[in-house]
Amino acid sequence: MSNTDWEAHYQRNETPWDKGEPSPGLVDWLARHPAVPCGDVLVPGCGLGHDVRAWAAAGFTATGLDIAPSAVKRAKSAGFFERVDFRLGDFLVDEPFAKFDYIFEHTCFCAIQPARRTDYVRAVLRWLRPGGHYLAVNYFIPDSDGPPFGVNREEIWVRFSPHFRLIEEWTPRSYPNRTNLERMFWWQR
Ligand SMILES: C[S@@+](CC[C@H](N)C(=O)[O-])C[C@H]1O[C@@H](n2cnc3c(N)ncnc32)[C@H](O)[C@@H]1O
Repeated sequence: MSNTDWEAHYQRNETPWDKGEPSPGLVDWLARHPAVPCGDVLVPGCGLGHDVRAWAAAGFTATGLDIAPSAVKRAKSAGFFERVDFRLGDFLVDEPFAKFDYIFEHTCFCAIQPARRTDYVRAVLRWLRPGGHYLAVNYFIPDSDGPPFGVNREEIWVRFSPHFRLIEEWTPRSYPNRTNLERMFWWQR
């Protein structure tokens, strides 16, 4: 089983990235911004869907997309939640079935091969409406033998600033083993 055989990970229940709860940085952002317009949100690489359900609980219509059939199946079987949908698909290559007001990034960018990061940025531009928001929790670790594959602020800036206006960036509250390793960026297209 390779580290990027996501389906095998879910089938074997070997999912150390899954903390059983949404990203603390997202939870805090939603609580701090009750007045942002509730639009449609896409969560690429949604895994078991905790972040998707957090967006929906805050009033957004949230769609999780994942390449692993077992992740999508388990996300769907977590119960009925209003304004939640899960789809099987490849964020990097699929033609969007809809365009979104928000894209939320959390451990998808660091899961893909660094050689595909240009495809990732193109995908964000393809799935996001003009004027839409790209909210990202990026993982600032040095590892190049991932996943997770690390990234630093300089690379994030070089890749995203030509296409997006930075609204805010900050170090979020994190899961205990990621404290001070995550950085959030709130961009607008
Ligand atoms: C490290 S896991 C993180 C899952 C979830 N975001 C979380 O934090 O629990 C990476 C996820 O991205 C998914 N993934 C990887 N490449 C993808 C792609 N090209 N399109 C959609 N999902 C992808 C994997 O199947 C996996 O569920």
